[in-house]
Amino acid sequence: MKRFGFLTSGGDCQSLNATMRGVAKALYENYEEVEMYGFLEGYKGLIYGNYKKLTPSDFSGILNAGGTILGTSRVPFKQIDEPTEDGLNKVESMKKNYKKMKLDCLVVLGGNGTQKTANRLRQEGLNVIHLPKTIDNDIWGTDITFGFHSAVDVATRAIDNIHTTATSHGRVFIVEVMGHKVGWMTLYAGIASGADVVLLPEIPYDIKEVAKAIKKRKKAGKRFSIIAVAEGAISKEDAKLSKKELKKKQKENTYPSVAYKIADDLAAMENVEVRVAVPGHTQRGGDPSPYDRIVATRLGVEAANLIIKEKYGYMVGFKGNDIVPVPLEEAAGKLKGVDPKCDMIKEAKLLGISFGD
Ligand code: F6P
Repeated sequence: MKRFGFLTSGGDCQSLNATMRGVAKALYENYEEVEMYGFLEGYKGLIYGNYKKLTPSDFSGILNAGGTILGTSRVPFKQIDEPTEDGLNKVESMKKNYKKMKLDCLVVLGGNGTQKTANRLRQEGLNVIHLPKTIDNDIWGTDITFGFHSAVDVATRAIDNIHTTATSHGRVFIVEVMGHKVGWMTLYAGIASGADVVLLPEIPYDIKEVAKAIKKRKKAGKRFSIIAVAEGAISKEDAKLSKKELKKKQKENTYPSVAYKIADDLAAMENVEVRVAVPGHTQRGGDPSPYDRIVATRLGVEAANLIIKEKYGYMVGFKGNDIVPVPLEEAAGKLKGVDPKCDMIKEAKLLGISFGD
């Protein structure tokens, strides 16, 4: 008898269920006797021994269902060695429950923080496989994370919709796309929707350059402009501050988010009517796109393949169109941002997109 545990941790995305289905179906195909357990609400479920037994029917009809059948939560890695509110040692509790349930492997679906905890559990002797989930696409060692393309689709449609109303009213619209640390979503959705200005955390902006781009469009007779801005976009001025200084400044800041600050600055500089649109968590909601379902299914099946070979301690990643196992010890703690010198940025600039730099 083989026993496997699943958990989904951190912010959700559209293709968590599709990925779990890929793993489970392939495992059911391979083993005659297998039991599967789902820990509820991420690592919390493993810490408290809160789980449910899963059967093949649990994985049926979920390929196109967004969210996660297991629920999720954030258990920050930097607090992993601090006891829970009721005094439990988190790592020891997770080890104890894993052993008590006689699991052969724990399949963990999550982003960077989740991966660090998975690596910690590996160091503690647990068999772990990590599947790279995040709409942000910021996991080192894989070209694509599952969830990314579905979220890009939502953000792109949001900017598409803004285009028509911006044209009617002759307005400047700032659409804020998710991504605090990296700008992959904003870059992809910005290009896919024909945004005029794209502001990323990796390329600090100068508001004067943004205003220049808007002025240039006005001069060319364009009635509207669209600025796609990442949640974590930062001005050149702020990028020069130390972490401490920046934190202090952000605390004093009264704007709900960066898009509102840019809107105010622009309106003060140019004679334009500016509006802000924040699609927010709609970008993580709804069903997975067909492409994302393929990504999720392939990653899931390859995770099962590793389990069948008893090759544990890996993240399953994409290199081009190939799937590669990436050792957790190599990947954990690294972030994959947009390279400001990459071809995609160069091509976008040739198209006339301003990055405000
Ligand atoms: O999961 C990634 C992400 O969606 C980021 O893009 C975003 O900045 C953050 O999570 C939002 O977190 P929360 O759901 O906790 O508000």
